[in-house]
Amino acid sequence: MKSILENRQALTYAVNQAAEVAGYLWQKGWAERNGGNITLNITEFVDNGIKSLPAISDVKQIGATLPYLKGCYFYCKGTNKRMRDLARWPMEHGSVIRILDDCASYVIIADHPVMPTSELPAHLSVHNRLIEKGSPYKASLHTHPIELIAMTHCKKFLEKDVATNLLWSMIPETKAFCPRGLGIIPYELPSSVKLAEATIGQLEDYDVAMWEKHGVFAVDVDIMAAFDQVDVLNKSALIYIAAKNMGFEPDGMSQEQMQEMTRAFNLPK
Ligand code: 13P
Ligand code: ZN
Repeated sequence: MKSILENRQALTYAVNQAAEVAGYLWQKGWAERNGGNITLNITEFVDNGIKSLPAISDVKQIGATLPYLKGCYFYCKGTNKRMRDLARWPMEHGSVIRILDDCASYVIIADHPVMPTSELPAHLSVHNRLIEKGSPYKASLHTHPIELIAMTHCKKFLEKDVATNLLWSMIPETKAFCPRGLGIIPYELPSSVKLAEATIGQLEDYDVAMWEKHGVFAVDVDIMAAFDQVDVLNKSALIYIAAKNMGFEPDGMSQEQMQEMTRAFNLPK
């Protein structure tokens, strides 16, 4: 078991890492205005001092009942807050929430009453499912990566695993570091419960899911790892586009080369 000091340090580390990733999202052009959101399940670092903090907001409804989140704590990007601001001041542009015992509502407890992201139903539904499965994943990221989103404006890339196989075949690292590929979710209204439900569905088979014509949703052990998965996928999309701009359809790695990679790196499929 960690000491109180170690827990506080781990909590600070996790929030600072969210700030670092927020800076990368802005630099990459994936975070126009308030675009994208981050949530972190920080429950394991929460000590009695934090547990006894009073609510600094009214009770707010999640919009879904999520039984595995009872008594959990999350750091959430604020709705309408900019990633480029969160990069410098994570506790002014995000807040910590406590899920209440009805598992359907929450209060903000720190540092300021910054309303969490409008995509909270998707983020919390995903965390609920991760806990249910006993997953070690603690971070979820929604962002707007330009080239991956552009691909979703073409019907053939919305067919199951067409984009995954193309992206994997552009450079060996993509399959190595995003081994479950890219799930596809047909267009749904942003922040809707339907979008949240579809996201949990795709994350059964993938760590990164694409919201058609909107952005990606990625999960991993921490926010840096979630970012890395999106980054390698988008790098592949850029290689594909570079080849097309040079006037040819890229060959891609052969099926034999892909299978050799899968065996050598002990990858799932
Ligand atoms: P928020 O500012 O509410 O986090 O929304 C940003 C976004 O990307 C919605 O999909
Ligand atoms: Zn979005």
